[in-house]
Amino acid sequence: MKITRTIIIALLVILVVVVGLLVYYLYVQPTTVKRVLRVGTSPDFPPFEFINETTNEIVGIDIDLVKLVAQKIGYEVEIVPIDFDGLIPALQAGQIDIVASGMTITEDRSKVVDFSIPYWEANQAILIVKGSQFKPRGLEDLNGKVVGVQTGTTAEELVTKYINETSANIQVKSYTSYILATQDLLNGRIDVVIVDEPVARALQRTYNVETSATIETGERYGFAVRKGNTELLSAINKALSEILSSQEWINIISKYTG
Ligand code: ARG
Repeated sequence: MKITRTIIIALLVILVVVVGLLVYYLYVQPTTVKRVLRVGTSPDFPPFEFINETTNEIVGIDIDLVKLVAQKIGYEVEIVPIDFDGLIPALQAGQIDIVASGMTITEDRSKVVDFSIPYWEANQAILIVKGSQFKPRGLEDLNGKVVGVQTGTTAEELVTKYINETSANIQVKSYTSYILATQDLLNGRIDVVIVDEPVARALQRTYNVETSATIETGERYGFAVRKGNTELLSAINKALSEILSSQEWINIISKYTG
């Protein structure tokens, strides 16, 4: 009799412990331990993503914005640097969960990734060495010149499309990074860089370069997620739309644009 009672009590204790552990791991822990959002970015694109030379950290408008979005939807972020043309492949391969990289929402890209609501508008700019005699007013002035762009960008697409349509004599040099393109411009290896206009404005604060013309392209930046990742996308969009009309967003912009 006594033994049976002891066994029953022991079984009850085990049951309570097992149920308690189950409840903890299934319901309590997921809300206290944060999930990680792996963010792919090409950090050669100030003020959106660039390397802070003193701290060696990747910083910028996109980084602060994606961190704020992640915080709102219960994620911690891990920033993964990837060359721009490798971002969509990395997203598709499941190496990252989101692209935050000044990426223009285009029809072609929308076939392979899903974009968030837009958070920025931009045109293209022609960047020259500061004070240079050669001051192109548009693509039509680039005949016989060497043009630097970043591989896989809308700038690369813009100039190659222009060459195909007009058979202009322009040589295109594609770089893995806009920083390398800017350095080659300063070294005299190329004549101009074509880059998003807000980035041209940021580059001319650090490098001896200036904008000689802008080209209206009316681009809009969005975050990209894997196609069909609708749960993540709608959470991101909800958080984004709240942030975009907040003072926090104004603070982020002024922090990086002065
Ligand atoms: N907005 C352009 C595009 O989507 C250039 C983006 C480059 N971004 C970067 N982080 N380097 O093609």
